[in-house]
Amino acid sequence: MTESLRPLIAGNWKMNGSRATTRDLLAELRASLRESGPARCDIVVCPPAPHIALAAVEMEAVSGIELGGQDCHAAVSGAHTGDVSAAMLVDLGCTCVIVGHSERRADHGEDSETVRAKADAALAAGLTAIVCIGETHEERDAGRAKDVVARQLESSLPGAANARNTAIAYEPVWAIGTGRTPDEAEIGEIHALVRARMGDRLEDGGGVRILYGGSVKPDNAAWILSVPDVNGALVGGASLDAASFWSICQSCP
Ligand code: PGA
Repeated sequence: MTESLRPLIAGNWKMNGSRATTRDLLAELRASLRESGPARCDIVVCPPAPHIALAAVEMEAVSGIELGGQDCHAAVSGAHTGDVSAAMLVDLGCTCVIVGHSERRADHGEDSETVRAKADAALAAGLTAIVCIGETHEERDAGRAKDVVARQLESSLPGAANARNTAIAYEPVWAIGTGRTPDEAEIGEIHALVRARMGDRLEDGGGVRILYGGSVKPDNAAWILSVPDVNGALVGGASLDAASFWSICQSCP
């Protein structure tokens, strides 16, 4: 049943680019969409916050590619210098937001409770939350990958989660930006665990999309996206190159 979920490919641009590169990248993606016709997947791009407004103008009236944020604050508004609220993302035209990325967990000390509060805020504002989880290399070597992921999932999941407003991204920290990926069995094992937990927690847990992230490239996307219970990808580096990102989108089964 989960094999038939429509895949979601999300591009996480991280802290990269300028107004000019944002325009160019989106123009290339629009051209690809025009040439190839509708993709077999839902597509989201997540520019850095200062470039979302421009991206929204560039993508106005373009259907088939949506916009997302890379993070949001748990509060609705207030004295939080430098932060962005979920409502601001909605106001800019975003439909989703990434929360709990391992770079946020590491750089900003975000724990799973913080991630959950952010995801709650995202859902309350009407966004889809892409909740990231994943083990470090040390945790995998110690044989603790499944435990770590299960614990993060348990405490990061928003209270009102369902298959329409929440996606999970499994991103092993050691695979992000390194060119290394887990093998098919390792990805399959974690995705099966996430699927089972979603089934336990949510009435429609079988419909939650579970994305894989970490060094997804055009040359490995097809096999990764064909692993059971992999329902899409969260793409970092390769999403900064329109041809590579489009090729990954076209790799969906
Ligand atoms: P990567 O990043 O594709 O560059 O490994 C993935 C991510 O951090 O979401």
